[in-house]
Amino acid sequence: MYAQAWLPNQDRRLFTVETPCGFRRIQTQSGRISRPVEPSLTLHPIGHIRSPKQVKFQARHQPTEGEPERSVLELLPGHNYETALRDLSRFSKVWLIWWFHRNSNWKPLVLPPRGPAIRRGVFATRSPHRPNPLGLSTVNLIGVERRRLILGACDLVDGTPVFDIKPYIASYDAFPEASGGWCEDLDQNLVAPPSHFVEWTPLAQMQADWLFQVWQIDFRSRLVELLERDPTPHRTRRIRRRGDGEQLEIGCGAWRARFHVRGDQVTVLWLEPGYPRRFLTDPARDILPDREAQLAFLERWPPVPEGTKTPSMGTNPPSMG
Ligand SMILES: C[S@@+](CC[C@H](N)C(=O)[O-])C[C@H]1O[C@@H](n2cnc3c(N)ncnc32)[C@H](O)[C@@H]1O
Repeated sequence: MYAQAWLPNQDRRLFTVETPCGFRRIQTQSGRISRPVEPSLTLHPIGHIRSPKQVKFQARHQPTEGEPERSVLELLPGHNYETALRDLSRFSKVWLIWWFHRNSNWKPLVLPPRGPAIRRGVFATRSPHRPNPLGLSTVNLIGVERRRLILGACDLVDGTPVFDIKPYIASYDAFPEASGGWCEDLDQNLVAPPSHFVEWTPLAQMQADWLFQVWQIDFRSRLVELLERDPTPHRTRRIRRRGDGEQLEIGCGAWRARFHVRGDQVTVLWLEPGYPRRFLTDPARDILPDREAQLAFLERWPPVPEGTKTPSMGTNPPSMG
């Protein structure tokens, strides 16, 4: 388990102690030294997040305080974590250190979702694709109930393993004057007026209204926010060319919107479910967001064949029921 710690000849070893942190403490005639003995570190989760967000695209890129949502961090029993939580409840925010357990790879360069399609060094981003896939989030702490932490909005998906909790201490952790690197350029772009105008066909409008009124699913403002700033293909913004390349598609949660761009005008042509019917009816696929809504949508608006320029308004009468 532990690698050999080599000592120069003059260090005559009296005794060694293996510490839990992966160091071997060595007492020699010339003093005590600590050597790392393990090139890797095994971490054990202290608990898991319970969140309404089941899949990655449902989670925000960073926690958003404006969202009314609640998440719960359930700590594991049998470790006396109840006692370790003592004194935490008077802090209004905590740091969570957690594992991007749904990722299996890392990349030196990544494409951040915001801003122009420029790849950045992963260490200059908050991307999940890291050599050690550790996430770091500040979240509002609403309450502590024995081994459960009631939290505000999180950017962690349901089931995410959490390794550590630390109090957020503004006098240590907040440096509003610190420079924000390439993110500062984005902030400046966000205050600039949008470059495109977004319009909806009557069909797309009807589908969006139906989703909202019947299923309380609403991604219209997020869609417009993304398309009016930059409707060009972008992997992490989930925009890609379709068919002959004139049409594009953007992913919005579990849904897709087909659109085209003419000059500074973006036209949202129609919406469609993100999953094919065969997935939606497969009981083995247990985590499919908006499953019922997607099936009902397909009943009402069957899949649009590739190459269609303007689909019909739907096979069923356009009532909202
Ligand atoms: C951009 S990362 C930022 C995470 C953290 N705030 C940080 O800065 O380290 C947030 C994204 O991670 C993804 N995510 C959340 N939980 C995850 C998990 N358990 N495994 C992999 N990806 C996850 C979601 O797609 C979410 O939008």
